[in-house]
Amino acid sequence: MRGDGVAVPGVNVGGDALHSLRRVIRLAEAESTNTVALDWSRAWRSADLPALVLAERQTAGRGRGSNRWWSGKGALTFSVVLEPAHYGIDVARWPALSLAVGAAAATALAPFAPGGDVRLKWPNDVFAAGRKLGGVLIEPPPGRTDRLVIGVGLNVNNSLAEAPEEIRSRAATLSELAGGLLDREAVLAAVLRQLFDDLAALGVENPALLARWRRLCFLTGRSVMVEDCGRVTAGTCLGIDDDGALRVQTERCVERLFSGVVVEYA
Ligand code: BTN
Repeated sequence: MRGDGVAVPGVNVGGDALHSLRRVIRLAEAESTNTVALDWSRAWRSADLPALVLAERQTAGRGRGSNRWWSGKGALTFSVVLEPAHYGIDVARWPALSLAVGAAAATALAPFAPGGDVRLKWPNDVFAAGRKLGGVLIEPPPGRTDRLVIGVGLNVNNSLAEAPEEIRSRAATLSELAGGLLDREAVLAAVLRQLFDDLAALGVENPALLARWRRLCFLTGRSVMVEDCGRVTAGTCLGIDDDGALRVQTERCVERLFSGVVVEYA
């Protein structure tokens, strides 16, 4: 099922943070909230944004690259459509924006799981206790360079017992870290509040934001192997730069990586 939800302009779906949303689409089921958002956003004007597309269940969730995104009952899967320029973020800052989304999610989730060691794994995975708690998929609608669809998948109350084996061993859920089921509306509101706060902060010089990214970085000090379009960079992670680049000390020099997949770390 795609795009058959209700568009409700200006609805507050739970908390002050969501007042800024101009459209909220709640779907019982969708193939992928990103796919729905890419589709629907073609008809949306700037004044309709930011918009939220939320699905109770995804039947064909998409991950980065050619990956699929599995999400069982109780997970949070949503997409936010926005225009970065509205927050003072130009195209050159899009790598930092991508990182900011993962960092905002990690920051917002941490209080729900005290002691859970919720971190950011560059570029924008949310990690806890060394396992994946959430992921982010950012896509521009075809033919547009002013708009982004920011898809976020978070393991909240879903049970990993139902997940495919390769996911079960590498994923974490917020409820297992918290020791009980959580109010998903509260989790959603916290993530969106942090996201909109951080996007506003990203549009200006903000040392506190950068310092938080560095504290959250799961890879700093670890040996990493990063692959980007067939090129592999191996070395020790030195942390995150002001522009969102990952600094890696290789045998020869310090490389600054703006995109890629961390294929190994230790
Ligand atoms: C990744 O880690 O590979 C990114 C996962 C992103 C998953 C979310 S769930 C909501 C949105 N809709 C999708 O199909 N994907 C993103």
